Amino acid sequence: MPAITSPEQLFEHELQDIYYAEKTLTKVLPKLADEAKDRELSRAFTSHLKETEKHVINIEKVFRAIGKSPQAHPCPGIEGIKKEHDEFIEENSASSKMLDAFLTGAASRTEHYEIAAYTGLVAQARALKEPKAVELLQENLKQEKEALKKVETISKRLLKDANGSTGNGGSRSR
Ligand SMILES: [Fe+2]
Ligand SMILES: [Fe+2]
Repeated sequence: MPAITSPEQLFEHELQDIYYAEKTLTKVLPKLADEAKDRELSRAFTSHLKETEKHVINIEKVFRAIGKSPQAHPCPGIEGIKKEHDEFIEENSASSKMLDAFLTGAASRTEHYEIAAYTGLVAQARALKEPKAVELLQENLKQEKEALKKVETISKRLLKDANGSTGNGGSRSR
């Protein structure tokens, strides 16, 4: 069990955690893009995959900026979010509209998780006076916030469509 007694060590640990999470997401996002039936949602997953690949590279640069080699540490947080998704798919037979609505929720949870992680990392890097790390981590944080906004907008539209087709507003097909 490694001893963590300094802010530098804690920062490195947190970095290893988000590094694992981002690498996991590069494998999950193509699956989500396939699962999504809504074209805008599917494209959003594909474009966030490209951003996520850049997040991984940025984290590797942060490791180097602090004189460490990139190393991933298993992150149970992202594994939990992933498991929630996998179980939903296995255990339910959702209509395409409900599946898409579910996927926006899973995406939103993921972005919130990443936003929390990067907000903490930026604060830590700032306290450690690591300007290069601050800059790179802020770049990732900004894209996570934009990704969250995008998925929330899509989610609102999907919910509106779903209510229109199952409720009082008459049916609307795609
Ligand atoms: Fe990310
Ligand atoms: Fe993200």
